[in-house]
Amino acid sequence: MSQLIGLNMNKDANIDAKIEELVGLVSEHSEHIKGLKDADQEEHAKKDIELLENMRGRPLFYPYLGSGIGKGCYVETNDGAVKMDLINGIGINIFGHSHPEIMKAAVKGAVQDVVMQGNLEPGDEMVRVSEKLVEIATRKSRLKHCWLTTSGSMANENALKMCRQKTGAARMVIAMRAAFAGRTTMMAEVTDNPSMREGLPEYNEILRVPFYDKNNPNSTEEATQILKEHIEKHKGNIAGFIFEPIQGEGGYNVAPREFFVPLLEMCRDNGIPVWADEIQTFCRTGEFFAFDKLQLSEYIDICTVAKTLQAAATLYTEELNPKPGLIAGTFAGSSAALSAGRKILDILDTEDYMGPKGKVESIHKEFVGMLNELNEGSCKGLLQDAGGMGLMVAVTPLDGTKESMIKVLKALYKNGIISFGCGRGPFRVRFLIPAVMTSDDIQVAKKVIEKSILELA
Ligand SMILES: Cc1ncc(COP(=O)(O)O)c(C=O)c1O
Repeated sequence: MSQLIGLNMNKDANIDAKIEELVGLVSEHSEHIKGLKDADQEEHAKKDIELLENMRGRPLFYPYLGSGIGKGCYVETNDGAVKMDLINGIGINIFGHSHPEIMKAAVKGAVQDVVMQGNLEPGDEMVRVSEKLVEIATRKSRLKHCWLTTSGSMANENALKMCRQKTGAARMVIAMRAAFAGRTTMMAEVTDNPSMREGLPEYNEILRVPFYDKNNPNSTEEATQILKEHIEKHKGNIAGFIFEPIQGEGGYNVAPREFFVPLLEMCRDNGIPVWADEIQTFCRTGEFFAFDKLQLSEYIDICTVAKTLQAAATLYTEELNPKPGLIAGTFAGSSAALSAGRKILDILDTEDYMGPKGKVESIHKEFVGMLNELNEGSCKGLLQDAGGMGLMVAVTPLDGTKESMIKVLKALYKNGIISFGCGRGPFRVRFLIPAVMTSDDIQVAKKVIEKSILELA
């Protein structure tokens, strides 16, 4: 019999039993979490919050400091409160808090010889997460390669470099109005929000195409015409077309398949790589990729994912595979995060989450239905235009101004729900709903939202 290699973690029943026991012990601390609870230890939390704020040099948006435990939709904060977390760090935790299977996977990864895996130091977790990503991606698209990194912005940077190399060092990038692409210098440029690049120079490398406007019957034709003009003017100097299948920071804007098809076909006909930024949408729309949900898989040359994955990745076709030297970087991800990322993908794939009859779709319908009920009932006209896709839902509160949106966010937080804003007029409240949200949880959310809106109306 051959010698066991290393810890041979996947086969050592003793290690599994200890991890089970450890996670069980930790989970006992979550047992008292049964629903919303007011803070009773503000003084305890205040010191650390102030310390963090001083270190950062600016205040936190919410006085939130996690205590380290939670349960499903609920999270305990360091002041003793229990809140309903409907934003989960802007899309990190699709299964909410303290999911035992994900905790176990993270612990299993965490007891490797190294905390972080690198591009020159891959381990089993890096193989397993890459394998699963490519397996999912190749079900319908041509994305057969995967490069891991540690943030969505960096995955986008890698994608851009691959697109530029493929197109002969083309400089210009086509991006949509209201796009968000991340926080590096170049991604701040791709992002269509001047407040996010205040004080930065203009690089003038972005060509804008409007996103779908459901109130404009000519929206598709107008966008297609603008794209055509860009292509004519910059022929041979366009590196790629980046788009979010559902715009995230831009306002949870959705568009039908028919809007995208002529744009993507025009790119394909002109040799312009089509780049789907799925950093926020990945796993959240009822399909792993929103481009699958929109039946656009055949057009996609490159795609970036992050957040729910617990790491970040660029997925790309054979044609876009870069020459050695173009992309690298020290970190591929932490062993714990990569292990948990793989587990998340497995659970989503094997339990009833995906597809038209999956949990994601039914949570979406129930949550949007609840918001519409409020808008038609006790909060008449004060919660407009509820929508989005899957676990990404937004609504325009009160008069849709930035001031109102911020007041609503703060009221929601005070009353028990953590959410966040998006859009730039109207300003919207968005929810990144955990896939474990139950009908009872939705009724709790309803009461908090109703209370918060009526306090401000
Ligand atoms: C669509 C989109 N692209 C890129 C990013 C940047 O990802 P990260 O914050 O991990 O750098 C985000 C993050 O919110 C995003 O939503």
